[in-house]
Amino acid sequence: MSARGIARAAFAAALLGAAIAPAGFAGSQVTASKAALSTVSPYATQAGLSVLKRGGNAIDAAVTVSFALAVAHPQAGNIGGGGFLVYYEAKSGSVWTLDFREVAPAAAKRDMYLQPDGTISVNSQTGPLAAGVPGTVAGLDAMHRKFGTRPWKELVQPAIALARDGVATDARLERDLNSARSKRKIDQFPSTAALFFPKGKALPANSRLLQNDLAATLTSIADSGAHEFYAGSLAGRIVAAVQQAGGNLSHRDLSEYAPTWRAPIRVTFRDCDIYMMPPPSSGGLLIGEVLNILNSYDLAAAGFQTAKSLHLVAEAERRAYIDRNKYLGDPATARIPYRELLSDTRAVAWRNTMNGERATPTISLAEPGSTPAVEPDHTTHFTIADAEGNVVALTTTLNDDFGSGFVVPGLGFLLNDEMDDFTPAPGKPNRYGLLQGTVNAIEPHKKMASSMSPTIVLRKGKPYLALGTRGGPTIPTTVLQVLLNVVVYGKPLDEAIAAPRYHHQATPDQIDYESSAPRRTVDALNAMGHSVVQRDDIGDVHALMFAAGKIIAVADPRDGGAAGGY
Ligand code: DON
Repeated sequence: MSARGIARAAFAAALLGAAIAPAGFAGSQVTASKAALSTVSPYATQAGLSVLKRGGNAIDAAVTVSFALAVAHPQAGNIGGGGFLVYYEAKSGSVWTLDFREVAPAAAKRDMYLQPDGTISVNSQTGPLAAGVPGTVAGLDAMHRKFGTRPWKELVQPAIALARDGVATDARLERDLNSARSKRKIDQFPSTAALFFPKGKALPANSRLLQNDLAATLTSIADSGAHEFYAGSLAGRIVAAVQQAGGNLSHRDLSEYAPTWRAPIRVTFRDCDIYMMPPPSSGGLLIGEVLNILNSYDLAAAGFQTAKSLHLVAEAERRAYIDRNKYLGDPATARIPYRELLSDTRAVAWRNTMNGERATPTISLAEPGSTPAVEPDHTTHFTIADAEGNVVALTTTLNDDFGSGFVVPGLGFLLNDEMDDFTPAPGKPNRYGLLQGTVNAIEPHKKMASSMSPTIVLRKGKPYLALGTRGGPTIPTTVLQVLLNVVVYGKPLDEAIAAPRYHHQATPDQIDYESSAPRRTVDALNAMGHSVVQRDDIGDVHALMFAAGKIIAVADPRDGGAAGGY
């Protein structure tokens, strides 16, 4: 176990009063008989667990966890961002998805970040102009109205207490604040620097993060509901503060924001029905396409994490990413060919272009393009199951670490920089090196394509797995690998999550791999014609597995979150 892993596991264990990590596994794992959850923050896990123990359901706990993450995990937890929910309702045996992704403000323009010299302005990633209209508070309100059982006010309360009384900071926050990007961003905004760089230095580990403005904002939301954020006096203060700082968010943008219930993407693979997020997430279609392409290969015979099987997965990912970049955008503004992308005909056509022994250069399959790899940033996923059998998989994001870096003055919350998930300029890669089509160009009121992929797997109609991760374009491929490790290779959940990860996204034409990948496997992939590039951790999975009447909750060792249950 890494030093960071040990420190975080001990912190989580102390806070949750539980023995967390089994021997040999550096993440956090709990086996529960009634209810369980896994989140990136021990504070959020503890808050969600106490809702579950008091008889709240998985949606109640999701509301509490989301607000708690906005306080205790400011890198990605948020009320100024957006996200996606996949929800299994035990009573009806059905799966729902809620899209509370941000939308472009009415004042947004297609070329708003394009500079005269053809480069892209920093405004797509930094400051209030980078923000889409936040969807999180409306999303939590919508899921709570439909499925929640406990009073809203009670569910927001734990986050208010965390903001007011403070949370102990950890080494990860210190590291993330000290990253060059975050520093550069945060330095520009006194409202953000005052919170995270008191006396000019990043909050060190084991100090206390007090957020009084955020506590007051959350109290208004608790007392007056989501309406307060979108059309009440809070909305007025948000718009005034954002416009004063040069942003373009209007009263109308906030008051017209509405989350959308959507039909999930369902794909059958082996004996599993996999339920995923539809567009504007690319996750469901991408994972579905990869699984369809892989379906007729004997991956088990090719071996667990051998170069042979990793090559097949990477080649399928390459092809699905070519389609993603071409076809994915907001379904409200473009026809997205769901059926064609998930058809057998397409899987066969792509398979016919694959060579089991050699890499196929992306350039020979699609438009060329190549961009540098990027360091990972933040988004966060959590997973919850309650005593009634309901299951939540929820991924939420500000896009980058600390979003746009802009804390709304006086209100204490960070705004997202989700506008950078659009194609900022045709033919130019965004922050994640994704070269996307005009289908994802900026338009007022439009949603930007996303990679977030909360996923629930049913077997014989009952929950079997629930999972998701952070990681930009590596999100779908990470979910895919954990799925394959469990479903094809029969690995226990902790091993399936701990296994080294690999990633291909068509452009740049390379396999990214984690440092834990064995050298000989990487060399073998290289010998098959793949460029191979080592990078930092890929993803941070929070998953549940349902087996023999128990729920196994696992937090990925990579970020060292906390599983809980009873
Ligand atoms: O929605 C998306 O695809 C991105 N905004 C997600 C960013 C992300 O996962 C960064 N995390 N590590």
